[in-house]
Amino acid sequence: MQRDPVGKLLLFGATGDLAQRMLLPSLYNLHADKLLPEKLQIIGAARSDYDDAGFRDFAKKALDKFLPDDRKDESAIAAFLERLSYQATDLSNPDAFPALAEKVGDVSGKLAIYLSTAPSLFEPAVKGLEKVGLAGETVRIGLEKPLGYDLASSKEINDTVAIGFTEDRIFRIDHYLGKETVQNILALRFGNSFFEPVWNARGIDNVQITIAETVGLEDRAGYYEGAGALRDMVTNHMLQLLALIAMEPPARYEPSAIRDEKAKVFRSLRQITPEDARQVTVTGQYVGGAVGGAIVKGYDEELGKDSDVETFVAIKAHLDNWRWQGVPFYIRTGKRMAVRRSEIAIQFKPVPHSMFTGRGGALQPNTLVIRLQPEEYIELLVMAKEPGLDRDGVKLREVPLKLSLDSEFAGTRRRIAYERLLLDLIEGDQTLFVRRDEVEAQWAWTDSIRAGWAANGMKPKSYQSGTWGPNAAIALTERDGVTWQDD
Ligand code: BG6
Repeated sequence: MQRDPVGKLLLFGATGDLAQRMLLPSLYNLHADKLLPEKLQIIGAARSDYDDAGFRDFAKKALDKFLPDDRKDESAIAAFLERLSYQATDLSNPDAFPALAEKVGDVSGKLAIYLSTAPSLFEPAVKGLEKVGLAGETVRIGLEKPLGYDLASSKEINDTVAIGFTEDRIFRIDHYLGKETVQNILALRFGNSFFEPVWNARGIDNVQITIAETVGLEDRAGYYEGAGALRDMVTNHMLQLLALIAMEPPARYEPSAIRDEKAKVFRSLRQITPEDARQVTVTGQYVGGAVGGAIVKGYDEELGKDSDVETFVAIKAHLDNWRWQGVPFYIRTGKRMAVRRSEIAIQFKPVPHSMFTGRGGALQPNTLVIRLQPEEYIELLVMAKEPGLDRDGVKLREVPLKLSLDSEFAGTRRRIAYERLLLDLIEGDQTLFVRRDEVEAQWAWTDSIRAGWAANGMKPKSYQSGTWGPNAAIALTERDGVTWQDD
């Protein structure tokens, strides 16, 4: 991949929560590791009324708070702050853009823009940028979610952004793709020969994808009430994971090859009709309970009013293509669940015939577990014989063949997903960014689910905080004789 680094980075939303927790620490880490272009200037922009010095103080405080102690190097921090400047900008005000353009200055040495703002500001932002010459050939743009609310609004955003930027200059962010373990799915599938022959409907019985979180609403009521778990997690992160598991082998590790294959997966997702919605989807909302020993409030209580927004969703999905015909993909995600865990469990088909039956030995089908977080490992559950003389029958037991990526790569620092994504944006590599057709196919699928909920008047079922969601989510798989991989 040819690197094409920019000379300037314009960070909208520079004083927001994401900037403090993730973007500024990530940029600093890249700086400290000498990975940023030497002369890269970073211009922050947001509504807050800072000058350059004020923004540097702000950034310093964010780094002090959010960098781990072993990453803090005062002289590196001082040099990093030197790169920063700031322009107070109200994106909804067209008159604000000339001053911004002046601050950014010449963009012939290329500019990357990172837009982390409410979707309602995409349009004025792009129009304003275009007008003052900050959207030309030498400018690329990174867009942070939420990229819309449904297919129609997502198309509108994409159309607007397309006024100023061609698709090869648009970088849609899904931070799950920046995670090391998520990229490892590609290495596991396409860097090894032994899984591929069974990686299909003949070899695999079902796939389970879980993103369980222990956090609740946090301070995001305004956003979350308009989103809910389906839009917040399924339309993007969960479907991206599903695509990496299900896609055909791309010919090359490069943006078009990989994104073509993912897009094909999204296009083969079976639409969930209103008749099916009750059968194949479950929604939930947490009530009070205990998470990790702490007593926590229910969603409505946190919010201060009654709400029908789902904080949990489980879906049985199907891909209508040759490879995956008949294989259910069970996906679920929720807030305030029993543990924080992102995991993919691939359950293989049972052996065609067990020679152990007559001697008492019971077999379990093999399972491959890919734990993405908090730990990073790959575990294959295989059958083994318990040691013994077998006089009372053969005793077989499932034992783990475990590859811990944490310990295998113990000496290597795990980078924040945003370090990878910011660097790729700066250097112009689109591989880990989401293309327009992907995003729109994702929305088309989740819109059909939402329409089914509306048609059936489905409301989220309560589940106690600190559990694995409503009982109906358990029934969703048990009906098929499948149990969620929960331990
Ligand atoms: C974000 C969602 O995209 O992803 C949040 O908006 C969620 O609701 C977060 O908590 C989860 O990300 P991670 O990296 O902590 O798994």
